[in-house]
Amino acid sequence: MNKISESVIKLDHAGKTSGSTWYVADFPADGMLFGKLVYSKKPRAHLIEIKTPPLPEGYLIVDKNDVPGKNEVHVVLDDTPVFADKTVEFIGDPILMVVGPVEKEVKRIASAVEITYEDLPAVFDMRESETVFFEYKYNKGDTAKAFAEADMIIEETLRTGRQEHAYIETQGIIAAPDGSGVMLHGSIQCPYYVNRAVAKVLGVPGENVRVIQDPTGGAFGGKEDFPSMVASQASVAAVKAGKPVRLIFDRAEDMEYTSKRHPSVNTYRAAVKDGRITAMDIDVLYDAGAYTTLSAVVLQRGIICASGVYTIPNLAVRGRAVKTNTVPNGALRGFGGPQTFFCIEMMMDHIAAKLNVDSLDLKLAHLAQEGDTTSTGGKYHFPVPLKDMVAEVVRNSDYRAKHAEYTEPQTGRYRRGIGMSLFFHGAGFTGSGERELIKAVARLHKFADGRVEILATSTDMGQGLKTTLTKIVANELGLPLEKVLFGDPDTSRMPDSGPTVASRSVMIVGELLRRAAETLRTDWKDGEDQDITEHYREPDFIIPFHLDTFTGDAYVTYSWGVNALEVLVDTLTGVSTVTGSWGCFDVGTIIDENIVKGQMEGGVMQGIGYASMEQIDSDASGRIRNRTFSDYIIPTSMDVTNLHVCNHIAEYPAGPYGAKGAGELPLVGIPASYTEAMEVALETKIGHIPYTIEDAMKALTGGDSK
Ligand code: MTE
Ligand code: MOS
Repeated sequence: MNKISESVIKLDHAGKTSGSTWYVADFPADGMLFGKLVYSKKPRAHLIEIKTPPLPEGYLIVDKNDVPGKNEVHVVLDDTPVFADKTVEFIGDPILMVVGPVEKEVKRIASAVEITYEDLPAVFDMRESETVFFEYKYNKGDTAKAFAEADMIIEETLRTGRQEHAYIETQGIIAAPDGSGVMLHGSIQCPYYVNRAVAKVLGVPGENVRVIQDPTGGAFGGKEDFPSMVASQASVAAVKAGKPVRLIFDRAEDMEYTSKRHPSVNTYRAAVKDGRITAMDIDVLYDAGAYTTLSAVVLQRGIICASGVYTIPNLAVRGRAVKTNTVPNGALRGFGGPQTFFCIEMMMDHIAAKLNVDSLDLKLAHLAQEGDTTSTGGKYHFPVPLKDMVAEVVRNSDYRAKHAEYTEPQTGRYRRGIGMSLFFHGAGFTGSGERELIKAVARLHKFADGRVEILATSTDMGQGLKTTLTKIVANELGLPLEKVLFGDPDTSRMPDSGPTVASRSVMIVGELLRRAAETLRTDWKDGEDQDITEHYREPDFIIPFHLDTFTGDAYVTYSWGVNALEVLVDTLTGVSTVTGSWGCFDVGTIIDENIVKGQMEGGVMQGIGYASMEQIDSDASGRIRNRTFSDYIIPTSMDVTNLHVCNHIAEYPAGPYGAKGAGELPLVGIPASYTEAMEVALETKIGHIPYTIEDAMKALTGGDSK
């Protein structure tokens, strides 16, 4: 084992476990104003009249007229308003904010605001939407010819549901006026995204907006774009009031009005000739919700993953992200990948069933190899270790024997099933994002006393980044961990190391810091202050990605995963229990064994929830009805007691000590292994997730649960 892999106590462990760490809501509220948003109750409407109650002294209403700069929150595009202007586009569109010194009074005033709407027609079903926000296509080979020559064509439509992030800490920001700008801090994944969005909203230069990340109680992609809205609203209020404003969501608000994972409807057509899949024609449809937010990039990753870990010689792939009058969907662990990975893995299972061959054998026969062309005409530059990983998972789970046994007809109240999925996660930003958009910068500052500070705005949201980045720098410099400092990310004194997303931080920012540390080590000057800055360089071997043609290397490299999952279904109640999960994950060199293990176990659990029980239910007006964790159920450690993870290590030469991205990978393939297991147990075919107890009951009672 590489020495750096040895686990240390997480650097933020003591504060978090003792309760002494301050999250944004823990800051004393003396002298601050409380903010409460008033949201649209209509899915789509003109705003006709807004009647606000008489305001006691010290209370204010803040709305679109108070925005000093542009009433647009910059995400990728700028279509999301800070406060609604003439129309509202979903239930939850923020219209105004009440601020004042006593929280209870602020809430009372907010609930007394009366809004008159003129209803407009709204769209809730993505298949009925006529507003295409984004559309991409790519082709490989000659799909028409392959379909013409096929001896079998299989077509299926597969659907995936929304998913809530279910972070422990809700959205929250405190903004305070600061000179001609603001200073703000809170629960944030990407400090510079917030910085740029707020600067535009206030109409001030970026340096007048200081953003600090407070310790963050989970994010999972949900704090990638959304804090830019919360921060914009709080900042406008702080500037108007001339006082600090805290805007912290309660759980119901957070569940009802903040981003979710994109639901999808995907149509797959596969051509088979002589037992081989010769072509696929894939149509991907993602429900973006009311504004564009992150949908362009989520969709890109979705369609890149559409043919999974397989080399299919002929491909025609189209993807669209369309508008509906629902909460804008955003980033959630896997970022567009889990939807299409569910589809391709289920397709492989269903094709195998049609061909009457074993699904794992069919998958192994089509596996991508090192040197193969990727779906977008890039190249797998490094070994694809899936064969070995499958062998390991088969050994650990006894997959072959169990699969053979459970696919025989079962009788009795309890039935068993087992499924297996193969998947990857492309590490880092999609396409040319790292080179063209992010251009990450990281710096080390050495103090005269020999301590070294990490200057980077990459955030720890539970995935352990404070610890892993510190370990990399300490290791490279040969220093004990306590000599390396890494404070809370702060845009006023740290360069933009890019957003903490796409599992990019260890691989990309970690390598920038390792290089900086290497330079510092060779140029170390005792007793002097020194600064070393490193900039991102795209590796030489890359086939540049072009978004217009959708060709090239979509990712520099891939993390790989294989997971087998076993279920026991009670045919009387429809309740399924995961009786075992065996995963093998290749994230390159492991920077900390416990951290990676935690990431893998957590990701598997989040994937099981996505596949089986996490269901968001909306009423006829598009309003989300799950507003608590008693009606949006997520799995706990009690639900999956037999959870195994192991690692295969295929080093990535351009990552720090060979490390690749880890955080999202484990979730990506779980829905397919769960669903295949359910298909085996129930002797049925499944085409959607979440596949709930009710669905299982329908299948058991002969109803339509597909
Ligand atoms: N793990 C915890 N505990 N909390 C989180 O919010 N976010 C996930 C993943 N693991 C998350 C997590 C997501 S969505 C991403 S993109 C990666 O961590 C980001 O971390 P990295 O860039 O350090 O890999
Ligand atoms: Mo992660 S979904 O890329 O924040």
